[in-house]
Amino acid sequence: MKPPKLLGISASPRNPWPGPGESTLVADLSAIGDKASLLEYIKRQGDLCLEKYLKAGRAERKGFLEIYANLRKLAKSPGLSNSELALAAALWSAAERGAEIRHVPLSAHFPAQGGIVEEGLLRESLLWADGILISGPVYFGDRSSLAKSLLDFIASSPELQGGLRGKLYGGCSVGAKRNGGQETTLIYQLVDMLEMGLLGVGNDSETTAQYGGTCHAGDVGTISRDALGLETAMGVGRRMATVLSLLKSPARLKGKPRALALLLQDAEGAGAGMIEKIRLHLGDVFDVHVVDYTELSIRRCMACDICPADVDLDEFYRCLVKNDAGGDVHRELLDHDVLIPVVVSSRNPAAIKGDYQKFMERTRYIRRGDYIWSDTLVAPVVIQEPGGVSTYPIRMLTSLIRHHTVMFRPLVGHLAQGAVIGEEQILEGLREAAERSAKLAAGRLARAGEHAAASYNPVGYVLSADKTREDMQLKKREEIVAQRESRLRKLAAERLLPQSGGK
Ligand SMILES: Cc1cc2nc3c(=O)[nH]c(=O)nc-3n(C[C@H](O)[C@H](O)[C@H](O)COP(=O)(O)O)c2cc1C
Repeated sequence: MKPPKLLGISASPRNPWPGPGESTLVADLSAIGDKASLLEYIKRQGDLCLEKYLKAGRAERKGFLEIYANLRKLAKSPGLSNSELALAAALWSAAERGAEIRHVPLSAHFPAQGGIVEEGLLRESLLWADGILISGPVYFGDRSSLAKSLLDFIASSPELQGGLRGKLYGGCSVGAKRNGGQETTLIYQLVDMLEMGLLGVGNDSETTAQYGGTCHAGDVGTISRDALGLETAMGVGRRMATVLSLLKSPARLKGKPRALALLLQDAEGAGAGMIEKIRLHLGDVFDVHVVDYTELSIRRCMACDICPADVDLDEFYRCLVKNDAGGDVHRELLDHDVLIPVVVSSRNPAAIKGDYQKFMERTRYIRRGDYIWSDTLVAPVVIQEPGGVSTYPIRMLTSLIRHHTVMFRPLVGHLAQGAVIGEEQILEGLREAAERSAKLAAGRLARAGEHAAASYNPVGYVLSADKTREDMQLKKREEIVAQRESRLRKLAAERLLPQSGGK
């Protein structure tokens, strides 16, 4: 299999690049053999960037307009901005996991005075990639206008829009404050990239970040002090390389992908109606299994200090709440290729049947039971009232991506006088999701056991950490992971076409 191709895009206006195609970052990264050398490189490049500013006039306390003009003249001197260095960490880790990497600095293509330079090269780089990883500064809890130029560039080109559909997106963001909006920046960008038809991932299980790389650095050259942030950037690089390798696998499913439609919340029967339409119109693209939570009694999560209470095989329900229907449906939640959670929102609480929020918190044992839904595609469906703001599409993304899933764009319809406006688009979207899920599922089955299965890392939970260590000593978790791998291998033998044959 050819290595997956990952394009790193930096979106900092701080470092005026000499010109398109002149980035030396990839060559530098390919010469770095270990993490300690990477961290040294990051420190050195940050220092060089600071030196550039000092040389440009910061040392003599010149005005910034003069410094800015001088910086442009120094564009060929080495030194990288904070968000470029976050990108360097992510790309290096992706390359370590087997990805072929390239770098595009947006400041070389979208100059401050406006317009675009060497559009063809930028287009070619985007079309070359199997996945794109954008790293940029946080501006007002959101992206920079430089990053926005890229989004506009893609949105204005049907060729790029078509070429990028189904490719993978991940992100890093850097802010001057510890909690300066790194996560909001990543989430908004994720939503926009999903809207453009890409698939999205968050981070891996080795760091605390959920939505990509989140780094803390304000002044030029300071990112090297944020070891934790750089770890999160490395995590998104690893996560992208792993998922890209699944999407790139030549394996193919014999039959249709398996969809799990979860009716989580309904109003005016719109959700049940939507599920019926999915069954009726999409039976040719996936096998649908439905769990209707609106008919089940589900209690709220007890926020146990240790979750899951028992470490056990995937097939066993391991939430301590036993006196409701949660355990009855546990096995129905396993071994699907695409999850389709359906939520209907209404401003009238009396009209709502089911409780999305309780469902979400009660999936904690699934996540902490070593990410049972790892690498499964999720295509959320939301039906909302017209007017007003419904946060469900974004909340479903930010909660479900925490399960190490791969996100498909939220499909949104509007409820008006008992009818769902946008139903056709939802069904079309799900048809596309079926195609993506077939590819991802085949890759996941074919590569079962090739990369270590994700294991939950209980950062921030001392009791859980102690329990986890204890359980690790008992080799229980190894057993679980081994059992999951062997189940996946069995499924691979049943569900993959022979010529793709798994491994
Ligand atoms: C216009 C502007 C707005 C900013 N807004 C935020 C913010 O909302 N939160 C934050 O943490 N940092 C904010 N910053 C700081 C930058 O995110 C920070 O300096 C970052 O390191 C820049 O990355 P770079 O060095 O790669 O350009 C802002 C900076 C600028 C210029």
